[in-house]
Amino acid sequence: MSSTEFAGPEVTPLRLREVTIPNRVWMSPMAQYAAGTDGKPTDWHLVHYGARAVGGVGLVMVESNAVGPLHRTTSADLGIWNEDQAAAHRRLTSFIAERGAVPAIQLLAAGRKGSHQVPWEGEGQNSPVSVADGGWELIAPSATPFGDLSVPREASQADIDEVVEAFVQAARMAHLAGYEVVEIHAAHGYILHQFLSPLANRRTDEYGGSLQNRMRLPLRVVRAVREAFPAEKPVFVRVTATDWAEGGITIDEAATFAKELAAVGIDLLDVTSGVLTRDLAARPPQQDGVNVGFANTLKKASGLAVAPVGQIGDLSLAGKVLAEGQADAVLMGRALLRDPYLALRNRSSDPAAWPTQYHRAL
Ligand SMILES: Cc1cc2nc3c(=O)[nH]c(=O)nc-3n(C[C@H](O)[C@H](O)[C@H](O)COP(=O)(O)O)c2cc1C
Repeated sequence: MSSTEFAGPEVTPLRLREVTIPNRVWMSPMAQYAAGTDGKPTDWHLVHYGARAVGGVGLVMVESNAVGPLHRTTSADLGIWNEDQAAAHRRLTSFIAERGAVPAIQLLAAGRKGSHQVPWEGEGQNSPVSVADGGWELIAPSATPFGDLSVPREASQADIDEVVEAFVQAARMAHLAGYEVVEIHAAHGYILHQFLSPLANRRTDEYGGSLQNRMRLPLRVVRAVREAFPAEKPVFVRVTATDWAEGGITIDEAATFAKELAAVGIDLLDVTSGVLTRDLAARPPQQDGVNVGFANTLKKASGLAVAPVGQIGDLSLAGKVLAEGQADAVLMGRALLRDPYLALRNRSSDPAAWPTQYHRAL
C-alpha cells in the first residue's frame, strides 16, 4: 500500500436492518433532468449511476424521484409512482447491485418548488412553466411562491392526505423496483421542508404554528413509508439542520425533529441545510464539511446513524470525519460528478474493489 493510501473507516461496512452497505463513501442524490416524459430512467441514468457504482461508492442514492406527476419539479424528473416506472428502474438497481453497491432512491414531492424548466433551459435559473404552457398546479402549506415560480394553492386536508398516500405508493414501487433503501426528502425547500419551516408555513390549522404542528405532515409521511416499506430495508430521511435565516428552522428544532424520527424507527439521517428560499443571504457558507458538525449534533440528540452532505470534496476529509466518529457515512455530490471513480482513488492496492476487467491497469 502506498503512503497515500489507507484502509481507514471509510472502507468498513455499515449494516442497517438486513442491508449491509460495503463502505461509507456514498453518492448523494443529484437530479439529472434526463427522464422521458413518462418519468422513466433512460440510458443516461444507467451510464451515470452505473459508472459511480463501478467507481466503488458503497451506496448509490438515485436522484429525487417524484411521487406523482403533480409532485414533479420539471417534466424531465424521474418518477416512481407506477409499475411501468418501477419495471424501468430495475435496470438501474440490478446493475448497481451487481457491482456490489447498495441501490437507494430519494422520494420527493416538490410543493411550491414545482413546475419549472430544467435548469439549463429558459431564462435564468428554473424558469416557471404555467399550466397553460404544459405545467401543473402547485400545492404548498401556504399560498406564497418560491422566488418567481408559480403561486401555489394552500393545501387542503385532502391534498395533505394525498401527499401521504403518494409517498406510500412510491415506497411500494421502490421496493418493487429493487431498491434496498428509500430516502424521504424533507429538506432543500421541497414540500416537507415547507411544512416544517415557519418561513414557508403560515397555516393556522393543526399543520401550522407550533413545531409539533409543523412536523405533523413530515412525520405522517415518514411513519406511513416506514410501515409500507419492508421491515428488513432501511428508510433514510434527508433533513435540514438550519434554514440559515432569521425566523427559520434552527439546529434545536432540527434536533427535536430528529428525535421524533428516531421514535418512528427510521435508520439514518442524511444531514444538509439551507435552500428554503431564493434569499441569497440565506445561502449556506462556503466551507468544507459545512454540515458535519450539525450531523454530529443530530446524531447525539437522536441516537440515529448520520451521514452529512455538503462540501466533502475529497477522501481525506471523508476519512477524517469518519475516523473522528462524527458521522457513520459521508455523502458526496459534485466531487463524484467530476470524478466517478473517486471512491477507488485510495484503493489501487485492493483489486477486490476494482472490476476484474480493469485489473491489468492496477
Ligand atoms: C446537479 C445537482 C443536482 C442535485 N439534485 C439533488 C436531488 O435530486 N436531491 C437532493 O436532495 N439534493 C440534490 N442536490 C444536492 C446534492 O445532493 C448535495 O446535497 C449538494 O450538492 C452538496 O453536496 P456537495 O458539496 O458534495 O456537492 C443536487 C446537487 C447538484 C449539484
